[in-house]
Amino acid sequence: MCGIFGIVMATEQQLGGVLLDAGRRLAYRGYDSVGAATIDRTGRIDLRKDVGKIDAVNAQLHLDEMTGERGIVQLRWATFGAPSYDNAQPHFDSDGDLVGAHNGNIVNNVELRAEFIAQGMTVRGTNDGESCVHAVERYVDQGLAMTEAIRGAAHDLNGDYAFVIAAAGERGVMHAIKMGSGLVVGIGDGFTCVSSDLPSILPLTDRIIRIYDGEMVTLYPDRVEIRRVADGTAVARNAEPFTEGMDAAEKGGYPHFMLKEIHEQPKVATDLIHLLSASPHVDPFLDAIESARHVYFVGCGTSYHACLIGAGYFNRIAGIPAVAMLAPQFNETIARTLTPDDAIVFVSQSGETKDVLNAVNASRPTGARILGVLNVIGSALMHASDHYLPLTCGYEISVPATKTFLNQVLLFLYLADRLRRTGDAIDWNHVPGLIAETIAATDGPARAVAALLNPHPEMYYLGYGLTLGVAMEGALKLKEITYAHCEGMLSSEFKHGPLSAVHDGYPVLFVTAPEDATMMVNHVNEVTCRGGRAIAVAAEDALLRKNVSDYIIVPNAGQDVTVLLAVLPLQLISYHMSVTRGIDPDFPRNLSKTLTVD
Ligand code: AGP
Repeated sequence: MCGIFGIVMATEQQLGGVLLDAGRRLAYRGYDSVGAATIDRTGRIDLRKDVGKIDAVNAQLHLDEMTGERGIVQLRWATFGAPSYDNAQPHFDSDGDLVGAHNGNIVNNVELRAEFIAQGMTVRGTNDGESCVHAVERYVDQGLAMTEAIRGAAHDLNGDYAFVIAAAGERGVMHAIKMGSGLVVGIGDGFTCVSSDLPSILPLTDRIIRIYDGEMVTLYPDRVEIRRVADGTAVARNAEPFTEGMDAAEKGGYPHFMLKEIHEQPKVATDLIHLLSASPHVDPFLDAIESARHVYFVGCGTSYHACLIGAGYFNRIAGIPAVAMLAPQFNETIARTLTPDDAIVFVSQSGETKDVLNAVNASRPTGARILGVLNVIGSALMHASDHYLPLTCGYEISVPATKTFLNQVLLFLYLADRLRRTGDAIDWNHVPGLIAETIAATDGPARAVAALLNPHPEMYYLGYGLTLGVAMEGALKLKEITYAHCEGMLSSEFKHGPLSAVHDGYPVLFVTAPEDATMMVNHVNEVTCRGGRAIAVAAEDALLRKNVSDYIIVPNAGQDVTVLLAVLPLQLISYHMSVTRGIDPDFPRNLSKTLTVD
């Protein structure tokens, strides 16, 4: 997730302040690097950019002092391509006649860069935003007008993205295109602007035009023209007033970031699937796992729960035994026995968790392969890894992890599927739709279960096999943001002690994958025959249904994908119960998003 903003003014002026303010309001979308470009009335382009957060880069480069008629600012959240000056956006074309910046992923970036270099273009970095500019340059060099060149580029660029681009010689004009990433236009007095998101536009104007996928827009100081990319035909759409406040805009209309991030899951899953299917980094990552003597998956909190599920997937699907372990336990139990033939997959949203980095540091001297799965590019874990894969979730603001957990589990399932030795390969095209369907279908039932659980100060979430990690994650989510006590554990272990907690009406939630439903019926009955209230989260199963009081149905997408879907209603239960209790789920007491302490 990156942020782009472009503006076209009627007159030349000090644009730097506008760009800086817009950039600050998009900083939640990325802070690996910042860049701004202004174009004056003579067509001179001033491009300033560097690695770092916006205020630090401004202090060094004085973005606020830039002048011009047209301006672009970009905030980068790096995926592939390290945060660096060359990879910072905006980018020039070969001759410095075009300047542009993107948001999103161009999955055929590696192939395109090779083509551009072979065609004699000046390619300065490895960032896919630069490929958007060169893709347009290629058609401009053939004599096409900018709008036609952008349509040609869209044909060549694969992925989900939006970009903004201006030609030095096209005075008073800027172009933008939306092909899967966000894009909104603002119409002001004496200017028009375009951005990835509303927070950068609303301080300037409340007259908004939404741009849809497959559309492009040409901005002039006093109007915009919208076209369909496919055939270049004009689209008539008027500006509408945006009546909600800035807070709603930053949260995309949702009352909390957590709910927004829950609803972003189909999109981040799509982004990750596209990235993994095109990434040259997947094969070396898999080679390291396949050739290892022992494989360990290591993380903390939510990331550890993803490791538990990932270990199950590798065992079941790829026939590769992997041991999931909490990072602080790893040094004592495993690290001393590591050899260069072992591989450890360290999983961390932030990439900065001290407990994880301690385990990395203990592993490094043994020569074992260090593999990273992380969301924050440029993090300590990224730098410490021999190979890493990004989660492509963008900035997760809410303290409770939701979309990053889903993509951690999805990434493990994808990797196991690539090494599959048994069963049918997963149809990845259907997975984002199943995620969207599950969120929509389970929100109402999750609200009802939240209301049912709310009076209880404590409860259990039980899973079996692959769903152990789901139950533990659901329980952690509930503890984090409702302050109720909820223990997540193996359903078959429940009878070995915790069963004594059960009394009349005591709630126990069972998360089940389709093949384990019959086994789970045994564990359900151990609870219900003692007066406990059993709630199932599972695909439809007639036997299970007869044995529980409440049932949240998730789509039956086979044993492995159903496990991934089962976490979604658990996120929603916690969210609704938290709100009912008057707690801010985004910022629960005592917790921090990034734990850089022992
Ligand atoms: C989950 O909701 C929490 N934010 C927490 O358990 C988190 O997963 C844990 O602190 C590990 O963080 P990491 O993934 O950034 O390493």
